[in-house]
Amino acid sequence: MPPKMPIVVLISGGGTNLQAIIDATAKGELPVTIEAVISDKVDAYGLERAQKAGLRTFTLPYSGFENREAYGRALQQLIDEQNPQLVVLAGFMRILSAPFVEHYLGKMINIHPSLLPRHKGLNTHQRAIEAGDSEAGCTVHFVVPEIDAGPIISQARVPVYDDDSTDELAARVLEREHQIFTQAIGWFATARLQLNDGHALLDGKNIAI
Ligand code: GRF
Repeated sequence: MPPKMPIVVLISGGGTNLQAIIDATAKGELPVTIEAVISDKVDAYGLERAQKAGLRTFTLPYSGFENREAYGRALQQLIDEQNPQLVVLAGFMRILSAPFVEHYLGKMINIHPSLLPRHKGLNTHQRAIEAGDSEAGCTVHFVVPEIDAGPIISQARVPVYDDDSTDELAARVLEREHQIFTQAIGWFATARLQLNDGHALLDGKNIAI
């Protein structure tokens, strides 16, 4: 097992992706140490998951900050105090300021519940169903200032069935999120994955999606 990479995980909600990271780490499948879990929502269930796993947690609610930039500065300070080499956005539902994103360029990844570039933004499952898509899925990507537009690291596809509810589709996608997100974190932690000149590289080769 290579040396463990320190990471910080940002959440806003239920934290099933966080749980997948915790579980993979506990099983020895992911060479990372989760230095802290940070939530912008004080009632995020993911905070309980983190505490159960003995992880340090912080909450940084957006209210009280003047604007996105001010919030970004405070968040950056909190993250940098943990000295992570990777910042993992695991369902963190805030738009981040450009200076914040630039600060972590190539060191911050996100999971998005659609097959990007299709369905950027919110309500992806409902939009996939309404559009009559036969396939949906999820995407792991490096974070750049433009929302949901960063270089793609990996995707997983699932079928959309005629009678799918958004909850059913979301559950099917979420299962795959857990797999490809932990896989991508593992690639980064073992220095197989990097952002180079706007391209995601795996083992030195452009990831073609
Ligand atoms: C996931 O679908 C993620 O892709 C999206 O928010 C959801 C978070 O789920 N951005 P969880 O908090 O990891 O359970």
